[in-house]
Amino acid sequence: MADNPILQVDNLSIALRAKGQDFPAVNQIGFSIRAGEVFGLVGESGCGKSVCALTIAGLLREPLHVTQGQVLLEGQDINRMSNRDLRRLRGDRVAMIFQEPMTSLNPLMTIGDQIGEMFVLHKGMSARQARLKAIEALEQVQVPSPERRIKDYPHQLSGGMRQRVMIAIALACDPALLIADEPTTALDVTIQAEIVELILELCTARGTAVLMISHDLGLVARMCHRVAVMYAGHIVEQRPAGQIFTDPRHPYTQGLVASLPRLGRRLQEGRSRLTEIKGVVPGLMERDIGCGFASRCLRVTDECRALMPPVAPLDELGSIRCFHHE
Ligand SMILES: Nc1ncnc2c1ncn2[C@@H]1O[C@H](COP(=O)(O)OP(=O)(O)OP(=O)(O)O)[C@@H](O)[C@H]1O
Ligand SMILES: [Mg+2]
Repeated sequence: MADNPILQVDNLSIALRAKGQDFPAVNQIGFSIRAGEVFGLVGESGCGKSVCALTIAGLLREPLHVTQGQVLLEGQDINRMSNRDLRRLRGDRVAMIFQEPMTSLNPLMTIGDQIGEMFVLHKGMSARQARLKAIEALEQVQVPSPERRIKDYPHQLSGGMRQRVMIAIALACDPALLIADEPTTALDVTIQAEIVELILELCTARGTAVLMISHDLGLVARMCHRVAVMYAGHIVEQRPAGQIFTDPRHPYTQGLVASLPRLGRRLQEGRSRLTEIKGVVPGLMERDIGCGFASRCLRVTDECRALMPPVAPLDELGSIRCFHHE
């Protein structure tokens, strides 16, 4: 792994503008990803994962906007770039894979043309060169008979094959950073692991930095080097993946880990039931000044209700936002 981070997010806050007011969606988050590193971002629905991803890819749109902090991609501040430069950056230096490939693929274009377009637009190749590169790209994502498949339209492929095509498009120009936002949620469980493994295999071989977003802590902790756990717009714990599993410290992370089904756990009555964290994530407009998890936390004190805990270092490589993590 190289030393300079590919992606550096510093003190980033994002708000939703509504009724003439700013409602914080993401608060003062910070993390960095190096070349070849796989960084996981997990958290419940609505905690702000996709808003972060869109911001990093330069795709954030009104009514959402950045209120403070910066996103440096290979040292360049993406908030200060023109739309034209951002368009050039996307696909070339940063690429994104979304949950549902059908919405990102063009139903009227063959997949060969859609992959080839990346080489024409970003690398200035001829149509003929681009076609050969498209076949090669499909081979790399292990689509069988790529010479024939390039003539297919998206609807002729299975969900898993479509997601492979999305990966081929995303990695076509060898981006420095790949953002995968719930890349397997729409797929069958059996295909999910194959797709994630394919992404990681290709990215590791190329030294691509990966931001893997999921609500599945088990998947992320298995596949990533480091993990950030988000809750109601804050990163509440950030640790090497192994430690998140074996020694979670934030009460929310502890709840997540306790709710994971473990291999070998006896399926006996009473023991088989998964622990669940009672309550729901507060919506954007219901968030208070204190810790967002306070209303669900078993260790809550008055301090937690009055003040969001600051980011505190944890061990050598981690950080946490909790007054009572010991
Ligand atoms: N375009 C938008 N307009 C208004 N609110 C939005 C918009 N996009 C996101 N939000 C709000 O911002 C918050 C964070 O949303 P985000 O999509 O980032 O969550 P998420 O963590 O990706 O959730 P999920 O796991 O469901 O994908 C949510 O409360 C959501 O309702
Ligand atoms: Mg999302």
